[in-house]
Amino acid sequence: TSGRQKLIVANWKMNMSLQTITSFVEKLTLAHVRSDVVICPSFPYLFPLSELIQKFNCDVELGAQDLHWNESGAYTGEVSAKMLLEADCHYVLIGHSERRDSGETDEMISKKVKQAISSGLKPILCVGESQGQRQIGKTAEVIRKQVLLALEGIEDISSLVIAYEPVWAIGTGLSATPEQAQSVHQLIRKTIDVQYGSISESIPLLYGGSVKPENASGLSAMTDIDGALVGGASLDAESFAAIIRGFE
Ligand code: G3P
Repeated sequence: TSGRQKLIVANWKMNMSLQTITSFVEKLTLAHVRSDVVICPSFPYLFPLSELIQKFNCDVELGAQDLHWNESGAYTGEVSAKMLLEADCHYVLIGHSERRDSGETDEMISKKVKQAISSGLKPILCVGESQGQRQIGKTAEVIRKQVLLALEGIEDISSLVIAYEPVWAIGTGLSATPEQAQSVHQLIRKTIDVQYGSISESIPLLYGGSVKPENASGLSAMTDIDGALVGGASLDAESFAAIIRGFE
């Protein structure tokens, strides 16, 4: 009823191999999924995946797991927006909690979001509270702050996607309940609305954290949950396809 198209994103993290990506694309093509689907592999698999997607005529888009905020230069180990565009990427994850854990700050995240938007990549900004923050009632404050700091100085958010990933639900098997997720999604939409107005209604808000075939349709039924960011269960094409179907 929201009119927003569902978006399902696979975050493969540091998993898969040349062999497994081939059978994955083959199986996903056979599953005939209808929603918008994005796969975010490790950098070396972007080019082979792009070829496989064309070969099997598989209706998915590519995303990267990170980017650097500078255009080019002496940044060993980093990857630029332009390189990602050349590798056929349309999306890029930014500020995943696993990257925040290894030292990524709100300021770096904001520079990455700016760089993605100005280069024509759609940023999937990840936010989420820790177990401890939830226990002391700080969830709303933490989420609002992460969203506002990441978007500081950004005017055009028309290509933005936000993923709510409670840290305590990532890779633990313990998903947030649909109601817990909905209440944070509503808060994120409100935060965007206060800052940017009615465009907030068209921003896709994804839920991530132990999404599996069994909980997909319950999450999908919530007004402000427009899709999912899937880790572990996205490594297997059949489970991933079942999740996509749960959101259709
Ligand atoms: O980015 C997706 C991720 O952090 C969720 O992981 O394994 O709980 O689905 P998982």
